[in-house]
Parts: sequence; structure tokens; C-alpha cells
Amino acid sequence: MADAKQTATLSFDGKTLELPMLSPTAGPDVIDIRKLYAQGGVFTFDPGFTSTASCQSTITFIDGDKGELLYRGYPIDQLAEKSHFLEVCYLLLYGELPTAEEQEDFESRITNHTMVHEQMHNFFRGFRRDAHPMATMVGVVGAMSAFYHDSTDINDPYQREVASIRLIAKMPTIAAMAYKYSIGQPFVYPRNDLDYASNFLRMCFSVPAEDYEVNPILSRAMDRIFTLHADHEQNASTSTVRLAGSSGANPFACIAAGIACLWGPAHGGANEAALNMLREIGSVDRIPEYIKRAKDKNDPFRLMGFGHRVYKNFDPRARVMKQSADEVLDLLGVHDNPTLQVAKELEKIALNDDYFIEKKLYPNVDFYSGIILDAIGFPTSMFTPIFALSRTVGWIAQWKEMIGDPTQKIGRPRQLYVGKTMRDYVDVEKR
Ligand code: ACO
Repeated sequence: MADAKQTATLSFDGKTLELPMLSPTAGPDVIDIRKLYAQGGVFTFDPGFTSTASCQSTITFIDGDKGELLYRGYPIDQLAEKSHFLEVCYLLLYGELPTAEEQEDFESRITNHTMVHEQMHNFFRGFRRDAHPMATMVGVVGAMSAFYHDSTDINDPYQREVASIRLIAKMPTIAAMAYKYSIGQPFVYPRNDLDYASNFLRMCFSVPAEDYEVNPILSRAMDRIFTLHADHEQNASTSTVRLAGSSGANPFACIAAGIACLWGPAHGGANEAALNMLREIGSVDRIPEYIKRAKDKNDPFRLMGFGHRVYKNFDPRARVMKQSADEVLDLLGVHDNPTLQVAKELEKIALNDDYFIEKKLYPNVDFYSGIILDAIGFPTSMFTPIFALSRTVGWIAQWKEMIGDPTQKIGRPRQLYVGKTMRDYVDVEKR
């Protein structure tokens, strides 16, 4: 736990409390209110946790004003350019970049766990044939605890490690199977001679009648998407995983809870919504109409892919994503993609509009990712499953950190009750 170097004084109702202030290695100081109720008899009120640190963590740091994102201290743009997803997984899980030997060992452990239990195929077949892949993933990942009993004891470090490797290794297989099932094609088994991203692309796009040649530029773009989404400190789905895990639930159940939370359009579902919106706008001349709607207080419409709870500057992931979108479309020889044109123009107009400037609304990671995924060949229904598979390592790293934290307690928020006070039951004939 960070050291308390100074205190904050809180006075109310004739009482004065000295609250310890904790200094982080980066970011704002934190007022420690853990003893506030015991000493002062009051709660704090912070729906949406806008001013509340729910835990201490060493994994990811975001400076929303500067537009900075660090995994274990390393800037995301350096990792996106120089590293690759499995190395980033190692970094997030174990805290340091691996040596060549550690990397080889880690990658071989992941590669050797990519197949799912054969009986899980039957589980998939229980879903309606056109089920959304996210619906299938929530169910199947939760069901992993029924298949892998030998890695559900959270008090055994070895079992925690095995569960982590299994989840990272099997998630691409599960996401690809959910996709194949939704389009009525046979499941494709993983291949150990392919890297993580290429293997995923092949499991999604190969069919028994024709193999899929993985283009290295597309697999690099895919790998980058995984890296850019790998972790993002205490966001809604990660906090969901931590909260579920705080009761001692098994890791598969916790990650399924994270997937469920990610599905919402204000979180992971935004990439699907952003591409749908760009398509709906359709042409550059219709942009002003949509900007007007986004600014209208009486219209619930929002520019999807814009704004972020933490970033009040450019989302650093959006910069890399934009560059990747250019590379992928260039490779595919798409020079007049109307969706990309709308995206670029919309970005330009919004960044110069007073409403967006005042509210510090910048493009987020989801603004460009959909264009890349669409160009690779994914339908919008696969965008959030791909986010879920990328974020799995972050969820696991955060879950493991929580389990190993001696200050960890079951998450149990309190409330500001504004309902009726105690009253007597009224018999039905008197109501
Ligand atoms: N378009 C138009 N106005 C917006 C937008 C937007 N995309 N985002 C926020 N605003 C406005 C709000 O109307 C509000 O205005 P007000 O102060 O006049 O009431 C103000 O900006 C602040 O917005 P909040 O919703 O209070 O900000 P919050 O931090 O709660 O929300 C969120 C952040 C949910 C991401 C929001 O910006 C949004 O809905 N964006 C669109 C969805 C999206 O792209 N989500 C992806 C997030 S990134 C991720 O999950 C990987």
C-alpha cells in the first residue's frame, strides 16, 4: 500500500477527522476514506465512481488529460509499434518484458492450450443458430468452469496460473467458434504453427472447401488491435471482473461477467455502434446533420466513437488505430472507402466544433477499429467479441492482482437511501 505522507481534514457536524492521503507513483493523490464510516458515521456518494479509486494497482496507468496510456510503465504507442500481443500479455501478467527464453516458454504454453474440450462443441450447438456471437461467448466462457474443474480453486496459485493460460489461449478459439456457428459454417480447429493473430484469422475465415491464406499485414493489424485493447485500468468490465472475483468466484465465471458488461454500447459495444453510425451517415455532405443532432440536448443521439470517461484529450489508441486503418486499406487497394472518408471528415469537423472542444470530446479507440475489422472481413457482430478476446488478458491480470492483494475485501458498496422509511403493512382490501 502507498505510504500516507499527509492528511486531509474533514469537518462536519462539529467533528473533525484527519484522513490519510496516499501518494501514487503517478496520477492524483488519493484520500483514504476506509475508516470514514467507523470514525465519522457518514458515507461518500459517487455514482459512476468518477472520483473513487476502487483498488490499488501496478498494471496500467492512464493520464486522461495528456492522452497517455502505459502498460506496466511502457507507452502504448511503443508497444503497438515494437512489441506483439503475446509479449504484451506476458508484460501485463508478470510485470516485466520477458527474456527470449521466457517468451518462448510462454508462447508455447499458450499455443498448446488453444483447443477447447471436444464436448464443448455440443454446448455451442445448444444455442439458436443465429445467436449473436457475444451471447454465445458469455454462455460458453461461463461454462468453462464446468469443463475445467482442475483450475477453479482460486486459493491455489498453480490453478490460477493454469486458468489464466487456458483463458488467453482458448478465447480466440471460442470467439471464432461463436462466429462460425452464427453463420452456419463448421468449426475450424486451431493450428499450432501459426501465431496468435494469424491463427484467429484462419479459424474465422477458413472453410473445409478452401483454406485461408493469412496476409502478414492483416495479421499484424489484428495483433495491434489485440494489443491496443489489452487493458485499460479500472473500466466498467474490469471493475465487474474484480467485483465478481472479490466474492471468491472462479476465474471463468468472473471473465464471463466481464464479457457481459463489455457488451453494452457505452463500453465495448461502441465499436459496432460507431461503424453502423458511419455507414448510416453514408456521405460527407450529411455530416452537419449528425453533428447538429449530437449537440441537441433533446436528441439522445451521440457521436459513437467520441468521448471517454477518462481521456479528455486524444485517445492514444485512436492515433495508432487511424494509422493501422490507412495501412490496411492501402494493402487492400481500397482508396475510396466512403466510410473512411466520412470518419476522417467527421473527425476533422468535430475537432473544430466548439461543442466538442468545450466538452473535450475526442475520437476514442472505437472510432477507427471498426473500419479495420470491416476491411479484414468481419461483420459488425464480431467487433465486441474481438474486444472481449483482447481484453481477457487485462481482466486476468487485474483479477490475479486482486487475489494476491492482502488488503482485498469483498466489494460491497453502500448507498444513499431515498426510499420510504419504515411503515406498516396494509391488507389488500384496505389499499
Ligand atoms: N456525442 C455527443 N455528446 C457527447 C458525447 C458524444 N459521443 N459524449 C459525451 N457527450 C456530452 C454529454 O451529452 C454531456 O453533455 P452535458 O454536459 O451537456 O450533459 C458531456 O458530453 C459529458 O458526457 P457524459 O456522458 O457525462 O460523460 P461520461 O464520462 O459519463 O461518458 C462515454 C463517457 C460513455 C464514453 C460518452 O462519451 C459516450 O457515450 N460516448 C459514445 C459511446 C462510445 O464511443 N463509447 C466508447 C468508450 S471507449 C471504450 O469503451 C473502449
